[in-house]
Amino acid sequence: MPVVEVSLGARSYPIHIAAGALDQAGALIAPRLDGGRVLVIADATVAKLHGQRLLAALTTAGLDAVIETFPAGEPSKTLATADALWQACARHRIDRSGAVIGLGGGVSGDLTGFVASCWMRGIAFVQVPTSLLAMVDSSVGGKTGVNSAAGKNLVGAFCQPRIVVIDPTVVATMDDREYRSGFAEVVKYGVIRSAEFLAWQEANAAALAARDPVAVAHAVAESCRIKAWYVAEDEFEQGVRAELNYGHTFGHALERETKYRVYLHGEAVAIGMGMAANLSHRLGLLDDPGLPDRLAGLLRRLGLPQRHQSADPAAEAARLAAHCALDKKVRHGATRFILPRRAGQVELVSSPPADQVIAAFGSGIAS
Ligand SMILES: NC(=O)c1ccc[n+]([C@@H]2O[C@H](COP(=O)([O-])OP(=O)(O)OC[C@H]3O[C@@H](n4cnc5c(N)ncnc54)[C@H](O)[C@@H]3O)[C@@H](O)[C@H]2O)c1
Repeated sequence: MPVVEVSLGARSYPIHIAAGALDQAGALIAPRLDGGRVLVIADATVAKLHGQRLLAALTTAGLDAVIETFPAGEPSKTLATADALWQACARHRIDRSGAVIGLGGGVSGDLTGFVASCWMRGIAFVQVPTSLLAMVDSSVGGKTGVNSAAGKNLVGAFCQPRIVVIDPTVVATMDDREYRSGFAEVVKYGVIRSAEFLAWQEANAAALAARDPVAVAHAVAESCRIKAWYVAEDEFEQGVRAELNYGHTFGHALERETKYRVYLHGEAVAIGMGMAANLSHRLGLLDDPGLPDRLAGLLRRLGLPQRHQSADPAAEAARLAAHCALDKKVRHGATRFILPRRAGQVELVSSPPADQVIAAFGSGIAS
């Protein structure tokens, strides 16, 4: 079973990735916990599909485990849901020797980690991601939290899991659009850190789109390896971890302008990665002029969009650029963009000229 280590000293943890890992989850997880009762938290959809399998695996390994659910979807990622789950922790008598396990997509992982970070001032936390996005991104690195009226993901805590268990075959039950949107982050890892991984994705795009289990397992393992490297280098995002935001400053602007109703996160990031490559070209930073076309071709084959639609592209580009000033990655008033130089290498650029940013947005808008 491929195991990727997240190296954080005494808080280091393994990511186990294998077909069938869900059935071995109890044996993998039990040695990393403190023996108390375990609360599995899942959204209702995932609980119905995979909850009993996980509970059976935990029980077989001798763990005393119960499950609680919440309604599937981003609107559940709130303090109100967290509060309902803290009440469930009380009802099930989860104490400091206990643990919570987040089973599901990024919503479940973010919410469960936040619940764990606060319950009794912090108890053990485990991630069992089931969406492609959660397997390649949100389950690794310890960022947890909820949305609030103040904005998305602004309230939260760093809470590293004790272990991450990934069974890549569970993507078989995912909705097609949700599945494909997870590839935006996979492509991102290739562009920012590994030319070899990007080339592998190009050679295996058809297998990935068709959910070939061997190809998906490799893509998940390589993605986790790259994310684990960033987390070990820069756990609290003071420096190099910001490279993981490639495509996200543009993508967040698209999500905000369309009020989170048009794009899934990965779709907005896919369009945003093209815009960032265009900005890199405009600023004379792009060493490999072939990269934007390669990126567009790969995104197309993975079923991801490359253009935002608008009846008035010029006005839309200006509106989108205005959103960047509000991005949560803004520091000391500077908007920061991660721009590719060539496959596997990016550069952080602070506050590029506004007209170039607007033009880069415009390059990704079709009427
Ligand atoms: N913590 C981080 O570092 C980090 C990173 C990226 C994204 N996120 C967060 O992740 C969230 C998005 O994650 P997501 O896309 O997984 O959303 P999600 O958790 O809402 O899952 C998407 C949908 O897929 C369903 N689903 C999940 N696994 C399934 C499976 N195997 N079979 C069938 N259906 C399945 C869920 O029920 C849900 O309806 C956002 O809230 C985002 O902010 C966090």
